[in-house]
Amino acid sequence: MSKRLSGKVALVTGGGMGIGRAICEAYAREGAAVGVLDLKEEPAEEVAQAIRNAGGRALAVAGNAAKRADVFSAAETLKAEFGPVTLLVNNAMFNRYGPLEEQDEKTIGLMIDVGFKGVIWGYQAVLPQMREAGGGAIVNIASPSAVLAMKDGIMYSAVKAAVAAATRSGAAEFGPDNIRVNAIAPGPTQTDGALRVVTEEGWERRRERVPIRRLGKPSDMADAAVFLASEEASFITGDMLFVDGGITYAFS
Ligand SMILES: NC(=O)c1ccc[n+]([C@@H]2O[C@H](COP(=O)([O-])OP(=O)(O)OC[C@H]3O[C@@H](n4cnc5c(N)ncnc54)[C@H](O)[C@@H]3O)[C@@H](O)[C@H]2O)c1
Repeated sequence: MSKRLSGKVALVTGGGMGIGRAICEAYAREGAAVGVLDLKEEPAEEVAQAIRNAGGRALAVAGNAAKRADVFSAAETLKAEFGPVTLLVNNAMFNRYGPLEEQDEKTIGLMIDVGFKGVIWGYQAVLPQMREAGGGAIVNIASPSAVLAMKDGIMYSAVKAAVAAATRSGAAEFGPDNIRVNAIAPGPTQTDGALRVVTEEGWERRRERVPIRRLGKPSDMADAAVFLASEEASFITGDMLFVDGGITYAFS
């Protein structure tokens, strides 16, 4: 089978670990050149090196998704190395759950800056390059909480709802330039980050609520992200794909 993302150049934020890493590796396997943007230099370099070792093309770009200048500079670096960016995955997030009254200004600010403004900086950084290339595809990593209520997750769910809105409106605004924008809402997924904060008991509770009775894997999200970036999804834009084992809409 021919590779589904040959000739594409992808920028993935938060690509050093978890879902972002799985997407970087899947995009590279499907033929895309990948820019791994991460706050942490070492994991980003490790992902890029693993891709290169497997015969793919990748570059680590250390940077903060919350900083407009960093995201613009990453897009420019990628263009110089591989050509115009045609795929963007806005995946980076800073998250703290907890009662709202206990969340300080800094924490709330960081959640908005990384999780929401990061998406906007990503859009602004790659749009001119995508137009130059004749089109592109953007995948935002949202969450089921974008459409559901979440105790101790007011900020998280509000940021993800904003991401979902920016997905729909982005699709409307950029569609005429052949740029599609979609989102993925991952169900509970055992990533490096999530494993650090969720207890074994917590995973078990989540597993029991998932209709297909298993937890998500980063590769589940990567498969969906490949599909949404590929030609197979060429008539899909403004949508949010729930990759969640059915948990979001399971009433009982
Ligand atoms: N894991 C889940 O169960 C789950 C469920 C729903 C949604 N999500 C969403 O999926 C995305 C990825 O989550 P994950 O569980 O893979 O996370 P993770 O913690 O495993 O990995 C996140 C990566 O992003 C990087 N990062 C953090 N802040 C950054 C910044 N400001 N700039 C650049 N890089 C930054 C980290 O260094 C890390 O490499 C997030 O948007 C998260 O909200 C995850």
